[in-house]
Amino acid sequence: MSDLVNVDLSGRTAIITGGVSGIGLACTQALAGAGAEVVVIDLDEEAASSVAEPLGGRGIGADLSDSAVLDRLDVTADIIVNNAGFQRVSPVHEFEPDVFRAIQRVMLEAPFMLIRASLPRMYEQEWGRIVNISSVHGLRASAFKSAYVSAKHGLEGLSKVVALEGAEHGVTSNCINPGYVRTPLVQKQIADQARVHGMAEDEVVAKVMLHRMARKVMVEPDEVADLALFLCSPAAVTMTGGSYVLDGGWTAS
Ligand SMILES: NC(=O)c1ccc[n+]([C@@H]2O[C@H](COP(=O)([O-])OP(=O)(O)OC[C@H]3O[C@@H](n4cnc5c(N)ncnc54)[C@H](O)[C@@H]3O)[C@@H](O)[C@H]2O)c1
Repeated sequence: MSDLVNVDLSGRTAIITGGVSGIGLACTQALAGAGAEVVVIDLDEEAASSVAEPLGGRGIGADLSDSAVLDRLDVTADIIVNNAGFQRVSPVHEFEPDVFRAIQRVMLEAPFMLIRASLPRMYEQEWGRIVNISSVHGLRASAFKSAYVSAKHGLEGLSKVVALEGAEHGVTSNCINPGYVRTPLVQKQIADQARVHGMAEDEVVAKVMLHRMARKVMVEPDEVADLALFLCSPAAVTMTGGSYVLDGGWTAS
């Protein structure tokens, strides 16, 4: 974590979905470091608590791919980082419909439900920050990633609508769009891509993953967390409805 982003979030509560691992973990640590009370929502309650409690927060176990769980979730916050997600790499004509639907629920329906529940509280206090961890795949497509690309494009739309509706109530909503970030999700994709493309794993990293990033280096989770923190800072008050790439030049070409 850099000390470039100096923001005091004491007195604010922040929900981070998927806060146990990778980008979500980095965001949880950054927000707690700025004084926010963190609520980590992740698949396993024990894992979520083991991240949140040492930081003075709490963990909630919830499978966000289950609509019934989403209906029952009773939690609100001043800051929401919609981060939980997973990937499946498969051609459209072979893509398992149940996995497609689960990806939409985790990466689009859950953000909608969490934002929907917290907006009245944010509107009441005239302050709220929604940070949606989208992806370059919210702006660009890649073959074999139909569910992920669809969900991220949907999240971009949701984020913009929330920005328009929330503007007069002091609520901002933005997307962060990283290229490949060094996290467990990517480790798994390397193996999947190797299978689909019939390549060795190191060949996949060089030729498939980073080939569209002009800067041939993976993004680090802390870089994403720094931007998330900045979007919660007073300096970012006018930044809403935006999508901010951390993609090593991928979308420049
Ligand atoms: N890693 C990348 O290269 C990259 C790039 C762009 C965007 N992203 C996005 O960043 C976000 C985080 O990715 P990451 O790379 O840190 O992944 P990760 O696998 O390290 O962490 C994802 C977290 O989400 C949780 N999660 C997954 N399914 C869940 C469910 N059904 N219910 C509750 N929690 C669930 C996991 O348990 C895990 O803690 C994702 O939305 C991903 O699409 C990642």
